[in-house]
Amino acid sequence: MNNSNKIPNSGALIPGFNAADDYTKYHERLLGDQIRNDKFRQAIAQAVKSGDIVIDIGAGSGILSLFAVEAGADIVYAVELDPKILAIAKQKVKEKETADKIKFIQANFLELSPYDIPQKADVIISETIGTVGFEEGILTLFQSAKKFMKPQAVFIPAELSMFAAPIYMHPRLERELVSCKAALPVSNIQLNQLSKTQKEGFDFLAAPKKIADIDLYKYKSPSIKSTHEFKIAIGGELCGICCWFEAHLDEHIILTNSPAHPMLHWPQTFFKSPFKFKLEKEDSLGVTFKLLSEEKYTLFIFDLMRNSIKTARITGMFMH
Ligand SMILES: C[S@@+](CC[C@H](N)C(=O)[O-])C[C@H]1O[C@@H](n2cnc3c(N)ncnc32)[C@H](O)[C@@H]1O
Repeated sequence: MNNSNKIPNSGALIPGFNAADDYTKYHERLLGDQIRNDKFRQAIAQAVKSGDIVIDIGAGSGILSLFAVEAGADIVYAVELDPKILAIAKQKVKEKETADKIKFIQANFLELSPYDIPQKADVIISETIGTVGFEEGILTLFQSAKKFMKPQAVFIPAELSMFAAPIYMHPRLERELVSCKAALPVSNIQLNQLSKTQKEGFDFLAAPKKIADIDLYKYKSPSIKSTHEFKIAIGGELCGICCWFEAHLDEHIILTNSPAHPMLHWPQTFFKSPFKFKLEKEDSLGVTFKLLSEEKYTLFIFDLMRNSIKTARITGMFMH
């Protein structure tokens, strides 16, 4: 079925879990992000053809696997690390007529072999997209997925980018930052949720720039390096770097948590500078960005140069 308007909304597919703990609440939050769900559903409806074999990496509640079945998939291998959410997903899917089309596998996807997934996939889906795109380990997951795919297989998402802007943040807003789990000194904040008056509490000192742009089909290396020059448009104290992602689910369907776009469940991410320093209008801020994604962690490094002088290094580490 390629017309996503004809299918019921995601809430109808997977009604609430009555979540009792933070982990299932997290999955309920994902299910409640209608923009996210609709965009994935559209991209899956476009990509999956009748009779296809699909792999859903990090299946969670099973929502994307159900979208793939709706679109005509013959078999969906739904791989999920967490036994608790997998048990809920199995229970929810059991109630559907098409339940036998979804094969649940409780495992770390990185440890699977073609013995565990005996058919090559036409479509590989993974919503392991973090607040800055890469910190949930999507690069290593898609790299590892290559051994399970047919030569012309489609990846959803196909492309993932990361954006960054130097930011001034009023101490009042800094106090509202929410620490990311096991990722200090990185924090989250929903800049696009702030009221107009609060908004006066932060400024992007320069226009945002795309600092990473990865084609997930072609990507091979576990690291990314890029260098950028930000022309300071508004003088002020640099407190850190604010980042977000843009995911191309296909050529036309784009999902982004940019603060300039409607709010999703993903906040923006604030990489805090170890110290604050003043930037004047017209100053140049050089940023060398490095990312290293390994099986268990993703490391982000920003080396900052104020008017060509090495000024600060910001690091952030995410475990996965
Ligand atoms: C952001 S959630 C997405 C869940 C679901 N696909 C959805 O769209 O609602 C990512 C899921 O990937 C799972 N996951 C992360 N790394 C994994 C791995 N290496 N192998 C299997 N599952 C993994 C997590 O446990 C989590 O349930």
